[in-house]
Amino acid sequence: MTSINYPRLGVNIDHVTTLRQARGEDYPCIKRALKQCLENGADQITIHLREDRRHIQDADCPIVRKITKDYNKLFNLELATAKDVIETAIHCSPDWVCIVPEKREEKTTEGGLNLKDSSVFEKISETVDILRSKIDGVKVSLFLEANLETIEIAEKLKPEAIEIHTGEFAKSFLIDSKKIESYLREFKNVHKYLIEHNIHCHAGHGLTDEMLPYLLDMNIFEEYNIGHWIISESIFRGIGPVVKDLSEIIKK
Ligand code: PXP
Repeated sequence: MTSINYPRLGVNIDHVTTLRQARGEDYPCIKRALKQCLENGADQITIHLREDRRHIQDADCPIVRKITKDYNKLFNLELATAKDVIETAIHCSPDWVCIVPEKREEKTTEGGLNLKDSSVFEKISETVDILRSKIDGVKVSLFLEANLETIEIAEKLKPEAIEIHTGEFAKSFLIDSKKIESYLREFKNVHKYLIEHNIHCHAGHGLTDEMLPYLLDMNIFEEYNIGHWIISESIFRGIGPVVKDLSEIIKK
């Protein structure tokens, strides 16, 4: 596992449902959004079923499963460790689960899992075991900071992939470009370790078309999960054209 065919684009459609939930209407329609993403280059659909159900609802999960299957594309479900969320995951049978930390008051996922805390590690280990035993063939990804100590602990859970938290890199890109190089160095270090341990390397959080080329140039990430920027940009250009342009940038 040393070469990457081409990186996958995972489109996170959470914020289509943020808009829907804001009014309790049945629009914007996620089926329509899913089809436009999948017909315009999305390799995967990513959703986060949060414990507080602020955007994606349980009933959305089987819809994402069915439509991604119809298009022969991947379904990646992000989740924390709440029991009812795990039950829904089991029922909708995603291809990938990405385990993330969750805090009720946060605006969005604020960072990677704190696996150095043994109680967090135990809870996640339990969750991973349940998901693996109940979802046939599911692959597990863990959302982590680019920190070797944490990644060494994560390896004990035998994840198929680590999704590196790119949120701080993305922020520094917009605010203090001097820090970019040090983030890129950290990503490279972590990637080297992951390759040596046969673990796939994914990226996600806060990414936009502006900063993506810096990551693509390194050719270390096999998958990019991007949501907020795509949905925001769609207000002006429509979701299909935004996904198409991003997919072309990624696969060039
Ligand atoms: N990856 C993970 C693990 C996430 O939690 C999120 C946000 O739900 C994303 C990617 C997408 O982040 P953004 O919406 O900032 O592009």
